[in-house]
Amino acid sequence: MDVSTITFERFKPLADEACQERIIAARKALGKRAVILGHHYQRADVYKHADLTGDSLKLSKLAAQTDAQYIVFCGVHFMAEVADILSHPEQIAILPDLNAGCSMADMANLSKVERAWRELKRVLDPGQHVTPVTYVNSAADLKAFCGEHGGIVCTSTNARQILEWSLARREKVLFFPDQHLGRWTGYLMDIPLAEMLVWDPDEEMGGLTPQQIKMAKILLWKGHCSVHQMFQAQHILRWRQQHPGGMVISHPECNFEVCKLSDYVGSTEYIIKTVAASAPGTRWLVGTELNLVNRIAEEFKPQGKVVQFMAPTVCMCSTMQRIDPQHLAWALENLVKGRVVNQIKVPPHEAKLARIALDRMLAVS
Ligand code: 13P
Ligand code: SF4
Repeated sequence: MDVSTITFERFKPLADEACQERIIAARKALGKRAVILGHHYQRADVYKHADLTGDSLKLSKLAAQTDAQYIVFCGVHFMAEVADILSHPEQIAILPDLNAGCSMADMANLSKVERAWRELKRVLDPGQHVTPVTYVNSAADLKAFCGEHGGIVCTSTNARQILEWSLARREKVLFFPDQHLGRWTGYLMDIPLAEMLVWDPDEEMGGLTPQQIKMAKILLWKGHCSVHQMFQAQHILRWRQQHPGGMVISHPECNFEVCKLSDYVGSTEYIIKTVAASAPGTRWLVGTELNLVNRIAEEFKPQGKVVQFMAPTVCMCSTMQRIDPQHLAWALENLVKGRVVNQIKVPPHEAKLARIALDRMLAVS
């Protein structure tokens, strides 16, 4: 077998259409040795090649269950890290383009979280009083931090169960990196907004006084999703005037006002299932990434359902878009040749601790 890597330069000039046949051929040659996992935000000409699709929680579970030698992750970096952590040591997780990151995940890092933990020590004993909870949209070392400090991971699907688990153990939660998911989940649990305070990692003591830290139930990391921040309350109010019978569904990464004004709030998988289960002829306004909205708009059109995007401007997850047909074809053709490109490998010590936090999550949800 020729084991020299095929460079990406050879795939760069290929037209999208030209890649399609190559992906199908490579897929066929690999057979059961490879599984392609696809997040719902992937562009249509990549998504259609996925063997299994889902939201972050579903994909985490699928990654833990597959026997395939290669897990080709069409998603973003933290998802491929989770696949690596939850799969068997001999399995290989691959991210077709290493630049497919998540800007929200980048809003928290280990040194800032460790600093927050140290600063909290000035006011209370965080090991006794605070459960660190990281949204799955975070780097593996933050999951490892949670594993080491009695904490846990959550996704947009199970955030409530995870916060309930956390607050049953310690009286406070440090929630990172998405303030909006944390606030919305706390609100659903009847935690007053005044007891959910924003921790600004760029300010000393998060910008809070010792008194505020003592009275807070949830400390919300000052992070957000650049895509979901585009959806605004006024978009919903204007749309409702035009379509009083319509229904609004949003992802919990949207801001608090948007979530409050929505009829339904949930993960990408939940959004798809809810619209799928609705009556023929229903009209929907959807507050999540454009690829998903476009896909379901087409899918449900034959049932007379009208699915509309919440923002007037195009807002896509630009990092998810990095996984294009060229990168997928390149990664797969290399695998056919027995060559692994773009493997995602979490260092063993970090993976072991991160797995503790992920296993806690899987046990709870
Ligand atoms: P889901 O877990 O709902 O798929 O969300 C992942 C994500 O990154 C949304 O922006
Ligand atoms: Fe990250 Fe937002 Fe993209 Fe989701 S949509 S992967 S949170 S940047």
